[in-house]
Amino acid sequence: MIGDFISDQEFTCIADFFKAESGIHLRDHKKNLVCGRLNQRLRILGLSSYGEYIEYLNVPNNKGERNMCIDLLTTNETYFFRECKHFEKLAELFTKYYQKSAPDIWCAACSSGEEAYTLAMCTQEHYGHGNWVVRASDISERMLDLAKKAIYSVHRAKNIPNEYLRKYCLNGVGEKTGYIMVNDELYHKVNFFKNNLLVPYIGGKADIIFLRNALIYFEKDEKVKILENIYRAMPKQGFLFLGHSESLNGVYDKFESIAPAVYAKC
Ligand SMILES: C[S@@+](CC[C@H](N)C(=O)[O-])C[C@H]1O[C@@H](n2cnc3c(N)ncnc32)[C@H](O)[C@@H]1O
Repeated sequence: MIGDFISDQEFTCIADFFKAESGIHLRDHKKNLVCGRLNQRLRILGLSSYGEYIEYLNVPNNKGERNMCIDLLTTNETYFFRECKHFEKLAELFTKYYQKSAPDIWCAACSSGEEAYTLAMCTQEHYGHGNWVVRASDISERMLDLAKKAIYSVHRAKNIPNEYLRKYCLNGVGEKTGYIMVNDELYHKVNFFKNNLLVPYIGGKADIIFLRNALIYFEKDEKVKILENIYRAMPKQGFLFLGHSESLNGVYDKFESIAPAVYAKC
């Protein structure tokens, strides 16, 4: 079927394009993944090979397709209260270091928004309505669009404690049965924007940065670049949360470990 085969040369072109745009290196064994995710584009665009698709991507005006290609090749798995011990640690940091007002929090690879809204729920629990926002970014415009819709299947929301579900979410009715929606107040507490982690961050400083389950997709050189950008985005005192399967050991030494996958700026 169209899009089910990609030659070595075509794969290299797409992998080079994706590496230049996102920093992520697609190894040869990812050929099937690339076909699985991009074959729909060939069909929709009426193209008969990846060679034609690459030509289409290279047309200067086709920026929308280049974004779409990046979106489809990134891995966006996420859910509410993922690796939930981290939210207990976050509450500890609130109590210990940020007694007067909420810290600036940046969710730096937020995917479809579940992690950012989880952070907003935790911040609201601790500081109330207050004058705070959670910043949240991703490279994928498609994911950011989903995040801004804030509608999720109940399956993705199954880790939200019942009390928080009642306080911060609305149950879908009619054709939205089986979905929840983040309530209006929480919705306005999260600011989503597009950001490439490899580009130095020019927004304001962030005291606490969640960068979970993203570094794992990068090679060491790119990890170091990203971590340098993260380091510079923090004030003197700052805390970094990674995914539980990620570590800075042997990669970057300007943070010290303070709990599993939690680091403090040195
Ligand atoms: C697996 S998701 C992690 C979502 C969430 N942090 C979590 O732990 O549940 C990884 C996210 O990193 C994003 N990403 C990949 N490369 C990126 C880059 N260069 N800049 C910003 N985000 C990137 C992807 O689009 C994807 O949404």
